[in-house]
Amino acid sequence: MNYKRNAYCGALTKANTGESVHLSGWVQRTRDVGGVVFVWLRDREGIVQLVFEESVCGKDVFEIGRSLRGEYVVTCVGEVRMRDAAAVNKELKTGEIEVFVTEAAILNKSETPPIYIDDKAEENELIRLKYRYLDLRRPKLQNNLRLRSKIISTIRTYMTEQSFTEVETPVLTKSTPEGARDFLVPSRLHKGNFYALPQSPQIYKQLLMLAGFDRYYQVARCFRDEDSRADRQPEFTQLDLEMSFVEPEDVQTVVEGAFARVFEAVKGINIQLPLPRMTWRDAMENYGSDKPDTRFEMKIKNFTDYAKNCGFPLFENCVNEGGEVRGICAKNLSTLTRKELDSYGEFVKSYRAKGLPYLVFNKDGTYKSSFNKFLTPEFAENARKVFEAENGDIVFFASDKKNVVLQSLGALRCEIAKRTGLIDPNKYNLFWVTEFPLLEYDEEENRFVAMHHPFTSWMDEDQDKISSDPGAVRAKAYDLVMNGIEMGSGSIRIHSSDIQAQMFDLIGISKEDAQLRFGFLLDAFKYGTPPHGGFAFGIDRLTMILTGSDSLRDVIAFPKASNAACLMMATPSDVKQDQLDALDIAIVKSEE
Ligand code: AMO
Repeated sequence: MNYKRNAYCGALTKANTGESVHLSGWVQRTRDVGGVVFVWLRDREGIVQLVFEESVCGKDVFEIGRSLRGEYVVTCVGEVRMRDAAAVNKELKTGEIEVFVTEAAILNKSETPPIYIDDKAEENELIRLKYRYLDLRRPKLQNNLRLRSKIISTIRTYMTEQSFTEVETPVLTKSTPEGARDFLVPSRLHKGNFYALPQSPQIYKQLLMLAGFDRYYQVARCFRDEDSRADRQPEFTQLDLEMSFVEPEDVQTVVEGAFARVFEAVKGINIQLPLPRMTWRDAMENYGSDKPDTRFEMKIKNFTDYAKNCGFPLFENCVNEGGEVRGICAKNLSTLTRKELDSYGEFVKSYRAKGLPYLVFNKDGTYKSSFNKFLTPEFAENARKVFEAENGDIVFFASDKKNVVLQSLGALRCEIAKRTGLIDPNKYNLFWVTEFPLLEYDEEENRFVAMHHPFTSWMDEDQDKISSDPGAVRAKAYDLVMNGIEMGSGSIRIHSSDIQAQMFDLIGISKEDAQLRFGFLLDAFKYGTPPHGGFAFGIDRLTMILTGSDSLRDVIAFPKASNAACLMMATPSDVKQDQLDALDIAIVKSEE
């Protein structure tokens, strides 16, 4: 029997009633009720119920119906009929109809799958990743990947309309300093030498500006050897762009236009442009994060001035030693149990906070704290004022070095919001964070490092601080943030060889090292480089948010597990000795 269908199972509706349809797909499940076999047939559009009734299809076809098992590949011809009112299945999109089979053939059998192909099935993720090709049959993953495709095609259309040229850049390349470790690829022809897989196409896109392309973009694969997290994969996709003769606002206008177009296309949501802006300083002070989740309030407030002489030795000592005391007010949480309070205390420890003092304003107007012995009415009144606390609220404090205080409170406000259901999952808070510091101090390496990357230029207003106070210099760098996640980053670049050399010097890259690693770029900058700037955002992260997924793994067809391994193909894997020999590589096993 031929298997060329003329309809999709999941696309049938009652409008098809009476038609003869030819369907092909996978068996979702079967139910044999004696004289009738009901089979759910699934394809990319969804599921429809097939009915094998001997009086309609004859003995042979009925026997085929009886022999079907889950995931068998089947083709069939049948008539679409309305179901009896009592038999309508509201769970199925096609639940009002069913197809009475007249012809059928098994195209391929299937062993019993190791996972159940159903969105509701709670399968172990490691097994799902091992059998990813089966997991991908689930409607949820099918929908996610289709939405991803729609996002990319929407952006491509938009970028073309905006006169951007799509250019592919090499994957076998040289290390680019995006802050992560490189994946290295050994060279056979240049033994002992390695290519690096690109952490981003950063340098290439800048060279394309030098080459006069004016507006470049690429759907670019990037590779970073860093620890995986829910929003990080070792291999991911960026929408990467670069523009010549622009200021930050020009780049931002293009990027936010792309986001608005995507939101409209996939969500039917109209995003108000231009997007709001928040300086990095405000983000850190109020939310303790450079990617704040602003879907809920709970801003951080500074209590340091009041803590100086508050009578609580922990706070007083902290301030005397140059530290800070800040806090957040969690509304209506005065009735948290001891256990819940302790678990928040445990939570902030992973942000290096040594404890989590709290002050509870009971509903009846009384108050209590974790430091009752030192708690004075004046302290309580000051706290009430600073944190705008009302009866029924609880104030959590952090006292430490400023960065520990901000980081721990920033993380705590998100954790409280998550645990207490303060976050509206249908809200999308998209905005720019601007005026990032150019440099940050790396305590371990004892030197400044570039906060964005070393090709970012500094703000003209801060030029005079470059030598005297480099840590206070702001960059022409901007991030796009949504719901507490960094969607993308960009900057206006350095376009002069001398300034680029000065920047390398600032971050402790010696002249020789700069020449060795980036000599080609410093040379290139000598040949008429236009002022330029750009941006890159994560396609995976955008898709994750728009599909309401918790992990990038749900929006990437073949993702890596948290240990960066592909469980399906068992990669990374060892290679044959002759492959190593051809590369002059010997494996030396470490002691471990
Ligand atoms: P950046 O390093 O900030 O900037 O990366 C830009 C965006 O790429 C996404 N992203 C990731 N997504 C998934 N897994 C990862 N491991 C991962 N790392 C980054 C994020 C991030 O915001 N060359 C610069 C851009 C520029 O200056 O134009 C760059 O790559 O969404």
